[in-house]
Order: sequence, then structure tokens, then C-alpha cells
Amino acid sequence: MVELRTPRLLLRRARMDDLADVHAVMSDPEVMRYWSTAPHREIDQTERWLRSMVDADPAGSDDFLIERGGRVIGKLGCWQLPEIGFQLARDQWGQGLASEAMAVFIARRRSIGASSRLTADVDPRNLASLELLRRHGFVETGRVAGTWQIGDELCDSVYLALDL
Ligand SMILES: CC(C)(COP(=O)(O)OP(=O)(O)OC[C@H]1O[C@@H](n2cnc3c(N)ncnc32)[C@H](O)[C@@H]1OP(=O)(O)O)[C@@H](O)C(=O)NCCC(=O)NCCS
Repeated sequence: MVELRTPRLLLRRARMDDLADVHAVMSDPEVMRYWSTAPHREIDQTERWLRSMVDADPAGSDDFLIERGGRVIGKLGCWQLPEIGFQLARDQWGQGLASEAMAVFIARRRSIGASSRLTADVDPRNLASLELLRRHGFVETGRVAGTWQIGDELCDSVYLALDL
């Protein structure tokens, strides 16, 4: 079982008994403001999402839940390589935790040496995510308007990449 440790965090594979913690994060409209889906209203939606993470083929996926003090507070990694995705519970923002998780994940990808690139697709209004990615060396590779229809809103994408 792959586990990554940082001073404050444990990154580990998802389990179905993480459902309540993951739903608490994914049902929060503030966390989900720039996500590729609307906030999860029903726990069944989070259950399907978590199931897809648990069942992901390890050959094409390298995804982690983030645990702090025994509580799952978010996720970071590639559900489908090479695209990275991440989110943290609202009460955990602004403490450098995403940066800590990002650093250990990038170090892992570098040490594996299997994939030469990580990519990201971020809403241009999502400044925290753009800053996090740029801080870790991701550079912008393009912008496209109208890529995501989320509820009533048509959203744009900034594409970024990190060569490992
Ligand atoms: C993106 C997210 C994970 C960042 O988590 P975090 O733990 O608060 O981030 P960190 O504290 O590690 O900060 C990382 C960098 O971003 C900067 N940052 C954080 N919040 C910011 C904000 N609102 N505006 C601008 N910069 C911000 C920090 O200053 C830091 O940069 P620095 O190292 O140069 O000081 C969190 O905001 C989140 O969960 N957002 C919602 C989910 C989401 O949109 N995911 C991405 C979908 S593509």
C-alpha cells in the first residue's frame, strides 16, 4: 500500500469507509466553487466518486486522500494520469497544507520516473489553485473559453503543465 508522509499529513489510497469525510468536503459549495461538478447534494454521488477512486486502475491512476490527525481533509493526485486534481476542506485552507501535499506528490512522481509530465485544468478565477500550481513549477500552456458547463454557468480553462 502506497503511503506518503509529510510533517502534518498522511497521503494514502482511498477506502469506501472514507465516505462521510469525503462527502463533508464535496458537499461544501465553497470548496466546489471551481470544481468540474456542482457540490454533491446526495451522498450517493460522493459514493460513486469514491468508488471510482477506489477501483481506479493503478496503471493509469495515482490518486491520494489526505489525512490529518486521523481525519480525511481532502485529496490530491491524478485520478487519471497525467492530470492532477486537489481539494481541501474549507477549515484547512491557508496553512500551507496543499503545498505540503503537492511537494510530496511531485517528489513521488519524479522518483517513479514513469510519467514525464503532470497537467492541470483550472478555472482562471481559481487564484488559490493557480498560485499553488505555479509555486510548484507548473507553467501555463494555454487557455480555452467555455470548456465546462457547471449547472447554469459556462466556465473557462487555464491549462498548465509541469515537466518532471
Ligand atoms: C486550492 C487549495 C487546495 C489550496 O489549499 P491551501 O492549503 O489553502 O493552499 P496553500 O496554503 O498550500 O497555498 C498554496 C499557495 O497558494 C497561495 N494561495 C492560497 N490561497 C490563495 C488565494 N485565495 N489567493 C491567492 N493565492 C492563494 C498561497 O499563498 C500559497 O502560495 P505561496 O506558497 O507562494 O505563499 C484550496 O484552496 C482548495 O481546496 N480549493 C478548492 C478546490 C479547488 O478549487 N481545487 C482545484 C480544482 S482544479
